[in-house]
Amino acid sequence: MDDPELEELETLEDIEELEAIDEPAAPRKELSRDQRKLLASSCVRALARSYERAAAPCAIVDAGLTLLYRNPRFRALLANYGYIDREDLLATFARAFSQEAAHDLKRALADPERGFLWRGILSHKAKDAPAYITKFHVQPVWLSTERAALREALPDFFTVYLDDVTDENKRHLRSIFLSLLEASKMKDQDTGKHIERVNLYSARLARELYGDQRWPEVDVDFIEEIGFLAAMHDVGKIGTPDDILNKQGPLSEAEWRLMKEHTINGAFILSSYPTPMAKQIALSHHEWWNGGGYPYNLEGSMIPLAARIVAIADVYDALRMKRSYKSALPHAAAVEKIREDRGMHFDPDLVDVFLRIEEEFGRIYAENADEDESLDAEASA
Ligand SMILES: [Fe+2]
Ligand SMILES: [Fe+2]
Repeated sequence: MDDPELEELETLEDIEELEAIDEPAAPRKELSRDQRKLLASSCVRALARSYERAAAPCAIVDAGLTLLYRNPRFRALLANYGYIDREDLLATFARAFSQEAAHDLKRALADPERGFLWRGILSHKAKDAPAYITKFHVQPVWLSTERAALREALPDFFTVYLDDVTDENKRHLRSIFLSLLEASKMKDQDTGKHIERVNLYSARLARELYGDQRWPEVDVDFIEEIGFLAAMHDVGKIGTPDDILNKQGPLSEAEWRLMKEHTINGAFILSSYPTPMAKQIALSHHEWWNGGGYPYNLEGSMIPLAARIVAIADVYDALRMKRSYKSALPHAAAVEKIREDRGMHFDPDLVDVFLRIEEEFGRIYAENADEDESLDAEASA
């Protein structure tokens, strides 16, 4: 099968077709004679056949990194994340590779000391699909055992496969930040289910913004992230002195200054989180739309969207909760307060969205009430 007219192998059907035909079909695109030879080899065919039903995206590239075969998962990945199939592996994944990583990969694949192989982590991102984090493996293959035995012999081709580590990564990352949250909960009086509810309201509000051109930054990852990170808004209180946090009655000016620092402390604590949203929420959830908030008197859209969302969620919930210094407001009164502060404390457009779905805030509160709060609710019903 060293016919120079061999077609490019891209799917199992192509391979089977190739085996069946006597008269080769017109080539889909020009491949070099070496590439055609490679494709015809039983080794490449066997690999391609085994990859066809693999659950992971797999591909075969020649020594020059031209994509010779892509399995269905690989093609789906390209389609889902808007990669343009450029034949060249690195050009196809240009968006995911840093320049350094691309250079490193090229060096590794020519280096016997590194076993002619490369592994790295790539993140794939698109607006309508959740971010997908993969280990990216490129492994050498030799067409003959004699050549493989020669330590310096360059590989004839490489296999590429992508291993999904999205969940694993997220789990590790989140467990670290959850333990931080647990630590801060031991100090903050806003314990109980307040922070869980703030997550739920924030994600719900963000979901309502999805697809609206006024908020292009809201994609599926934004909704997912805010549903986890909103709870972190007061994590900086871990650095606030206990006597201020637990003080009954009004704070002095000096105490207030210290109290306000929980925003800056929170941003510092969350600065290692890989997306900026964590920091934005901690730093800016007390900023006001009209510039009257803290710590930096930001106004309007200078305040990051995630923080503007969490501001509404946090205040709504705080109004509903009973505290030693205040009684709990019923849902309608809390909604009224938010409405009154439209354009003052809160982003007016977000308040309009909130008013559209306010009943769901009431439902989230009722379904996730702390035990003593549900007793109160029953008593007052
Ligand atoms: Fe706060
Ligand atoms: Fe809060």
